[in-house]
Amino acid sequence: MKAFDYQNDILCAGGIPVPEIVAKVGTPVYIYSAEHFRNQYKTLQDTLTSIDSEIFYSVKANSNLDVLALFKKLGAGFDIVSGGELQRTIAVGCDPKKVIFSGVGKLAEEIDLALKVGIGCFNVESGSELDRIIERAIILGKQAPISIRVNPNIDPRTHPYISTGLKENKFGVSTSQAMDLYRISKNNPHINIVGIDCHIGSQIMEVAPLEESLTNLLGLAETLRNEGIEVQHIDIGGGIGVRYRDEPAFDLKNYGEILQKKLAETGLRLLLEPGRFLVANGGVLITRVEYLKHAESENETNFAIVDGAMTDLLRPSLYNAWHNVQKVEQVNQKQAKQWDVVGAVCESSDFLAKKRVLSLVADDLLAIMSAGAYGIGLSSNYNSRPRPAEVLVDGGQFKIIRRRENTRDQLRLETYQAENN
Ligand code: LLP
Repeated sequence: MKAFDYQNDILCAGGIPVPEIVAKVGTPVYIYSAEHFRNQYKTLQDTLTSIDSEIFYSVKANSNLDVLALFKKLGAGFDIVSGGELQRTIAVGCDPKKVIFSGVGKLAEEIDLALKVGIGCFNVESGSELDRIIERAIILGKQAPISIRVNPNIDPRTHPYISTGLKENKFGVSTSQAMDLYRISKNNPHINIVGIDCHIGSQIMEVAPLEESLTNLLGLAETLRNEGIEVQHIDIGGGIGVRYRDEPAFDLKNYGEILQKKLAETGLRLLLEPGRFLVANGGVLITRVEYLKHAESENETNFAIVDGAMTDLLRPSLYNAWHNVQKVEQVNQKQAKQWDVVGAVCESSDFLAKKRVLSLVADDLLAIMSAGAYGIGLSSNYNSRPRPAEVLVDGGQFKIIRRRENTRDQLRLETYQAENN
């Protein structure tokens, strides 16, 4: 069964009619398919059966605790980038050894927590970060497992905001700097070198840049070995692109074959940090049409103003990302028109979709597709809007995994006290 499909012209999530969920939870609401998440995980696992490999779900893609618990149950580890994400993995009872910590700006307190709980690996992104990790490890009397994140200066041919493996990007260090950092680490009793790391970008649609990056890492592993520095793993990062529209799919089979072939020759363990691949197409954002604002003339824009906005799904505004928009109920189709689907936020950058041909009336429910990755995570309270609820569908049942925010949630951190007058 597809995660989201139509039965009698009504969009269903895991077999449950979306209007049924909306009747209980309201809109805007994120709906996720547990089955899709599991299938994606298994598909990825199945492409890597011949080598020693491990999947570390990239928490930032969708960090809801129920989503993390689902992946933990499948045996996943977690790729984190903050103390908050570490706390989330702890909250779902993840073995800290199955956590790897990436990110250019790790704070001392985050490093301390990671050292205390005993995470599997710090993916170190600079010399000064290495110094700080050593300093914290000395203070705490610990040994830090590390890999150095290499920036191989490879163009992943994706949106510039999510490209991370070019020299101009802030991530990682060059191969020669990495060599220096490994040399510094080699004889330090507070450091345990465990791997080499890389992540060149996100929503990568071609295998070639990832292959090039792997070749680079394996070359480095070889050079290190010649200097008596042995690593146990190669972390190729995440980045596997998904289909949002009709773009040619990422050739996962080919990627798997390349990874297996190249890793088999070395006997090294492979780590992957996928986020989007596992969750993007397993989520939709359901929103309701509040108003229709018709253009005065043919060549002007018609606006469908909905109760979801850039605060709920930022990807269209931030990356000009294209998400398919479907009517939840495909009944009573009147004549279709071209619409910009926009939110209530006071910015012209607030749109969910532009120029979509849809047959709309006020009150229609719309599904913004492929919203399972970097949807709720990028949401905000701008315009004092409450974040949407999140629902997980599994085995013909649905459950609210995050309730809708209310105004009290938003005001609770502010300290204002009304004057007595
Ligand atoms: N590992 C590291 C170190 C990362 O920085 C990321 C994503 C991943 C793994 C997972 O990448 P994925 O498999 O999901 O491509 N907000 C953007 C995407 C930002 C990606 C940031 N890093 C979007 O909505 O497209």
